[in-house]
Amino acid sequence: MTRHLLRDDDLTPAEQAEILDLALELKADRWKEKPLAGPQTVAVIFDKSSTRTRVSFAVGIADLGGSPLIISTANSQLGGKETPSDTARVLERQVAAIVWRTYAQAGLEEMAKDTRVPVVNALSDDFHPCQLLADLLTIREHKGELKGLTLAFFGDGLSNMAHSYALAGVTAGMHVRIASPEDYAPREDVVADADRRAAETGGSLTLFTDPNEAAAGADIIVTDTWVSMGKEEEKTARLRDLGSYKVTQETMALAQEDAVFIHCLPADRGYEVDADVIDGPQSVVWDEAENRLHAQKALLVWLLRQQ
Ligand code: CP
Ligand code: NVA
Repeated sequence: MTRHLLRDDDLTPAEQAEILDLALELKADRWKEKPLAGPQTVAVIFDKSSTRTRVSFAVGIADLGGSPLIISTANSQLGGKETPSDTARVLERQVAAIVWRTYAQAGLEEMAKDTRVPVVNALSDDFHPCQLLADLLTIREHKGELKGLTLAFFGDGLSNMAHSYALAGVTAGMHVRIASPEDYAPREDVVADADRRAAETGGSLTLFTDPNEAAAGADIIVTDTWVSMGKEEEKTARLRDLGSYKVTQETMALAQEDAVFIHCLPADRGYEVDADVIDGPQSVVWDEAENRLHAQKALLVWLLRQQ
């Protein structure tokens, strides 16, 4: 059966670990796997802007022997005249996999339904599972085993990143804390899914409104933009509502002495994080950005092996 990655809990704990192991192997030996040699094409579709996702998929697909076809939705029929389902049925006859950055999770689900090739969520309004594979890889490199580590996220708990940390973090057996105002707390169904997964792995998800309580003793401190793509009209309200969740040196001082700081980027210095944190010695954001390449290559190799 064709496997897809639409949300972080589409992978079991064992599958997530297998992909991260493979990512480490591919980081050590970049041209080890060539499942797309031929070359086969992978379609990478963008409804929203991107730097890291676009570059890392294009480079990674080429590393795997394949040919990336980067499509901007603005110049395609998708989103205008054609449904995700019809687009998928056209693409599946010509490409080995479909990677899509979009708004609604429902569009990804429609794309994946009955599609013969793997569909990968390259960010939706609800989840960013490719980013999480890179983040977990980075944390593994800097901290060793993931199980039992405490990761604290600050800011927009309703964002794709917060939801993905909740699901992917507990899948890895981590203790995930999300600190946000009550109105920005993660979606209840995502919390319920994370709780179910945590019961399997020994991880946990805890919601906080007090950022200092969330930071206390954490191994990983993380934040994301306060104004995600598509939320630009709410900018004024968001800067006001999320102001006290900024990651500062004071936040880092409450965490473990050897805590690392991660951020998916792009970052708004002075808003969700101070420059002396993101550009400081505890920040591993450049490793994290590089790891998009290795993690997504491993994901594609793994998905193609399931075909
Ligand atoms: N982190 C991330 O997905 O970056 P881009 O928006 O640049 O792809
Ligand atoms: N939450 C951000 C992530 C960007 C990679 C957004 O959706 O814009």
